[in-house]
Amino acid sequence: MVMDSAACFWFQALFLLALVWFFSYGSVDGASSTVKVGNISKVEDAVNFHIYYGQTFKVIKNAVDGQSYLLLQNNSRIASRTKYCTSRIKSFVIPLSNFSVDTDSFPVSFLEHLGLLESLKGVTSDTVASPCVLKLYKEGQIEMLNKSDYQMISQFSAHFFSDADQHSACNFATTVPFSEDTPLQRAEWIKFMGAFANVEARANQVYTAVKENYLCLAEIAKSRTSFKPTVAWMKYNNGVWSFTKEAYYLKYVEDSGGEILDANKNTYNVSDSDDLEELHAILCTVEVVIDETLTSDPLNYTLSTFIQNLNIEDRSCFSFLSNTSLWRYDKRIQTSSLDWYNGAVSQPQLVLADLIEVLFPTGNYNITYFRNIVKGETPINIGPEMCDRETSSTLDPTIVPCG
Ligand SMILES: *[C@@H]1O[C@H](CO)[C@@H](O)[C@H](O)[C@H]1NC(C)=O
Ligand SMILES: *[C@@H]1O[C@H](CO)[C@@H](O)[C@H](O)[C@H]1NC(C)=O
Ligand SMILES: *[C@@H]1O[C@H](CO)[C@@H](O)[C@H](O)[C@H]1NC(C)=O
Ligand SMILES: *[C@@H]1O[C@H](CO)[C@@H](O)[C@H](O)[C@H]1NC(C)=O
Ligand SMILES: *[C@@H]1O[C@H](CO)[C@@H](O)[C@H](O)[C@H]1NC(C)=O
Ligand SMILES: *[C@@H]1O[C@H](CO)[C@@H](O)[C@H](O)[C@H]1NC(C)=O
Ligand SMILES: *[C@@H]1O[C@H](CO)[C@@H](O)[C@H](O)[C@H]1NC(C)=O
Ligand SMILES: *[C@@H]1O[C@H](CO)[C@@H](O)[C@H](O)[C@H]1NC(C)=O
Repeated sequence: MVMDSAACFWFQALFLLALVWFFSYGSVDGASSTVKVGNISKVEDAVNFHIYYGQTFKVIKNAVDGQSYLLLQNNSRIASRTKYCTSRIKSFVIPLSNFSVDTDSFPVSFLEHLGLLESLKGVTSDTVASPCVLKLYKEGQIEMLNKSDYQMISQFSAHFFSDADQHSACNFATTVPFSEDTPLQRAEWIKFMGAFANVEARANQVYTAVKENYLCLAEIAKSRTSFKPTVAWMKYNNGVWSFTKEAYYLKYVEDSGGEILDANKNTYNVSDSDDLEELHAILCTVEVVIDETLTSDPLNYTLSTFIQNLNIEDRSCFSFLSNTSLWRYDKRIQTSSLDWYNGAVSQPQLVLADLIEVLFPTGNYNITYFRNIVKGETPINIGPEMCDRETSSTLDPTIVPCG
């Protein structure tokens, strides 16, 4: 009767939530409330999580896996009495005194903006694209974890990961910024993390600054009346080139004032002469190419790798080559890990500013995440020695001059 007992737990949990809700919700705005406005995060843009506030607890609902996280304030009575670990509800006592993250899927940059790096005690890879995480790891303050060793991971108050297929344990919380379709929606996941540490005020402040800067840059790009360069995000895999149609990338092109390549079809087999002919023709209409081809060795991915994969002899009509606009987003790396999946997620305003410079070069803006492979730019390998601040401090977002 496993199903029945699971269902029973679920009903009990719902009942409890309803009860706690009933007793605390009414007074949130009242004078006796312990919940101050600055301690509440409102989710404005992201669609895959929601946060609800009571007086001594919070509930985060994760729309991707349907789980609810009941966050109980450590000084409340309910925290000492309540413990949930069902398929739908898990409880956590907050603020978390320590936690670990699956660094393959969780941008540690969120923690840096929130000033939470010193509570990060475990990571799943030593190739994190963050100087200060590397420094703490090197100093022995962060432990290396085996993703499937749940015994080891259970020593932390929470483990943040995003692999929906991986079986999860009681202290696992699913964090899925990459499930969102726009750059701002992804960045807003800083509020998810903030709720676990009672640092909503900081999370709100960072997100608001990032969003205002992003929207300002996008507004300027939108008001541009000049020619819109056509941009292709393309990747090569196993003999086939494909063009990205992912909403996230399209949004960046739109917001930076470009035109996305509208190809007839998405995949082109370079061994098929008809496909190759069509690919050749379509690429003659493109002004900017972003080559997303995966590689385990970004340092070794150069213009010649691109040309070899392209397999087209006559490149005379390719203006993205003659006009030197062939890019990759692996400018900042740590071996094979890209800061594109870390810092770029929490700071989309920097990515947007980069793209505006890529599309409409001024020569007086330093690009953060993209490298120009026609110009032979090579990736910067991030190391612990590049950590130039106190690891306990908060990292401020970089605001790009706008207007
Ligand atoms: C709630 O926010 C206020 C104002 O931002 C701050 O002073 C207070 O410390 C916060 N409380 C908690 C529990 O973080
Ligand atoms: C609750 O957490 C705060 C901040 O980490 C800590 O200072 C305090 O001692 C904790 N209280 C209890 C009862 O555990
Ligand atoms: C990781 O943990 C799992 C489960 O405990 C074990 O089977 C596996 O051998 C471990 N891997 C490494 C590299 O230690
Ligand atoms: C994490 O915090 C919990 C609760 O405070 C504590 O019991 C546990 O020992 C800590 N784990 C580590 C690895 O510091
Ligand atoms: C590409 O085309 C070649 C020749 O027609 C064929 O052998 C190969 O299987 C195709 N590759 C894919 C991934 O479809
Ligand atoms: C080449 O790039 C410049 C900006 O650097 C742009 O003004 C021009 O239109 C581009 N030419 C072509 C053919 O794409
Ligand atoms: C770079 O890649 C090429 C072909 O993919 C390979 O032959 C070469 O050994 C690589 N060089 C290095 C330094 O890894
Ligand atoms: C770009 O970076 C270089 C080298 O760090 C620096 O000298 C220059 O001032 C920077 N330019 C701008 C516009 O920030």
